[in-house]
Amino acid sequence: MNNNPTLSEAKDKGCFPIEKIKKLDTPFYYYDMDVLKKTVKAVKNEIKNYGYIEHYAVKANANKRILEFLAAEGFGADCVSGNEVKAAVNAGFPASKIVLAGVGKTDKEINLALDLNIFCFNVESLPELEIINSLAAKKGKQAQIALRINPNVDAHTHEYITTGLNENKFGFAISQLAETLNKLSYLKNVKLIGIHFHIGSQIEELEVFERLCIKVNEILGWFEDRGIKLEHVNVGGGLGVDYADPNGHPISDFKHFFEIYHKNLKLSEGQLLHFELGRSIVAQCGSLISKVTYVKEGETKKFAIVDAGMTDLIRPALYQAYHKIENISSELPEEKYDVVGPICESSDVFAKDYTLNKTQRGDLLALRTAGAYGEIMASQYNCRELPKVYFSDKI
Ligand code: LLP
Repeated sequence: MNNNPTLSEAKDKGCFPIEKIKKLDTPFYYYDMDVLKKTVKAVKNEIKNYGYIEHYAVKANANKRILEFLAAEGFGADCVSGNEVKAAVNAGFPASKIVLAGVGKTDKEINLALDLNIFCFNVESLPELEIINSLAAKKGKQAQIALRINPNVDAHTHEYITTGLNENKFGFAISQLAETLNKLSYLKNVKLIGIHFHIGSQIEELEVFERLCIKVNEILGWFEDRGIKLEHVNVGGGLGVDYADPNGHPISDFKHFFEIYHKNLKLSEGQLLHFELGRSIVAQCGSLISKVTYVKEGETKKFAIVDAGMTDLIRPALYQAYHKIENISSELPEEKYDVVGPICESSDVFAKDYTLNKTQRGDLLALRTAGAYGEIMASQYNCRELPKVYFSDKI
């Protein structure tokens, strides 16, 4: 991921209502609803041009208010667990717009989704197909399914969030498709309605999506040659965001992204194209706000020790991810710090040798672009409390 941003880190800060924020108990996630609204507007503006359908990837952020907002905006939901399906339904997503993916769906999760009559199961293996068929048969139902196909396209992103290579655990290999179609002809309680892909996340090179389109076209041709008409094509999510410059680029390049699919994908008459964007919808609206507990002089370094840790935002520790950090309390001359949390792990570091305005105990730091895979990945390691949450329009 982007570990070497070139921008001057201390300058160019985001907009925070500092007087209000100062009074709140840290650490907390702060969601700027204006940014979220503008992002959603930008997505809707583009997809309406093409009649595309967005199923928001709930895994990126399942905060109830955010889900409610996205459901009210008309998006569907992409879920990867029974609890995500429940969260989506509780937030107002109609079951008819919910898809359920995941390599290890349990019987309980499949039964829940069958009971709710969700739109589609994105199926990842032959054994799973057989189980969905038998559970649907017990209920006297027919489940709509899409085959998740692993297209072996390199997403050029961090290896932990690359999902579309042969070595990854996700989806059917292309070589298994003939056998799967044969199997499907015997399974009467599942109905094949489409194919599904998702090759990775935080994809910054948009040409990657062109390569995906080429593969999808080949696969669509393969189905057509066998006289199979697929109503739905789902190409997943993956569009990256600008972690280095959230103020300069608060909204991803949706125009170019959707244009690529429009120009490169050869859909047949009536075929609908679905997306499952997560990060690019919610990342830039969220910041993790943390208070400086101590500034400690080390032998060779200065540490800004803050009250948020890897339990609140695990991305730097897990993926070596860069999150821009701003001292929103200080305009003093710049100095370099290692910004670290209080957790008993050496990986509990948000940034090393990072330029901040001179930092003192009590200052507030904003870790930017934390709206996706931030709050939802928080844990209680060290018996810590989960981070609190505030919204820009409700403080
Ligand atoms: N659809 C499927 C099947 C997925 O597996 C994912 C993400 C998405 C859609 C949404 O992708 P997005 O638009 O958000 O890139 N925790 C990691 C990210 C893991 C992404 C997993 N799959 C991180 O913090 O970077």
